[in-house]
Amino acid sequence: MSKVVVLGVFVADTAYRAARAPRMGETIMGENFALGPGGKGSNQAVAAARAGVETHFISRLGRDTFADMALQTWKQAGVTAAITKHDDSYTGAAYIFVEAQTGDNAIIVCPGVAGQISPGDIEARSDLIGSASVFVTQLEQPLDAAYRALEIARSSGVQTILNPAPAAKLPNGMLGLCDYVTPNETEAEALTGLAVTTLEEASLAAQKLIAMGAKAAVITLGEKGALYHAGGQSVHVPAFNAGPVKETTGAGDAFNGGFAAALARGLDPVSAVRYGCATASISVTRAGTAPAMPSSAEIDALLAKA
Ligand code: RIB
Ligand code: NA
Repeated sequence: MSKVVVLGVFVADTAYRAARAPRMGETIMGENFALGPGGKGSNQAVAAARAGVETHFISRLGRDTFADMALQTWKQAGVTAAITKHDDSYTGAAYIFVEAQTGDNAIIVCPGVAGQISPGDIEARSDLIGSASVFVTQLEQPLDAAYRALEIARSSGVQTILNPAPAAKLPNGMLGLCDYVTPNETEAEALTGLAVTTLEEASLAAQKLIAMGAKAAVITLGEKGALYHAGGQSVHVPAFNAGPVKETTGAGDAFNGGFAAALARGLDPVSAVRYGCATASISVTRAGTAPAMPSSAEIDALLAKA
């Protein structure tokens, strides 16, 4: 049975569309506001489940309205929740500024109670992690929890994906636990210290990530798709045209969820990168993050016509 297990954070996304960001001390009028489910880990779990693979999500929630939103979101998408609920903190939220003209975004994430996920939480889920075909995590919850989960996954022979977002300095040995590391251009620069603006530079950064311990690297490149590198070979997978771009927030999460689902189904890595790119390409034509994730039928249709 294919199974994806995701560790990460759910937050409520509060998205403000405006011509520009406010300056300190200034109030400006916005064009639109939207409230919806977000958080990188939760978005990735929703993407994997919508792509048709059994998906479990490990996290913490508070007892509040945003926790209800999380449970409702996962129920709708078919994600099985492996969470604990806590009274001593809140379910988090993200401030998302969306620049009206470009659709580009800038984000502040407050993970709330999920910012306290501990290695102990992870150990309590070691059977679930060990039963996965593919394990995925990001860096919105504490690093030591992500590290412990990758260790457990690796020792059980589970394929591991680390999406190092937001960018952070990784402890020694962490990339050595990763079958795939999947930064975007900015995160790849932060991890390697190399500029990543062209495909050639992305290939060099990917090679450095492998020298740092990862078995394979996938650098996501926005509208240019993704660059996969392993075994001394780089493969560029272009993005797909799925229609006019509406909002790019969560595109990386769509990629990671689709990529994980495809690997869990047994696709080879390059085909899985293609599947992830198709997932992301559809998600950017829709508003929001988790609500923008496509179904497996939509992804298959895009791949068939490309
Ligand atoms: O990757 C996009 C996500 O990052 C948003 O949903 C927001 O919650 C932030 O965590
Ligand atoms: Na979107």
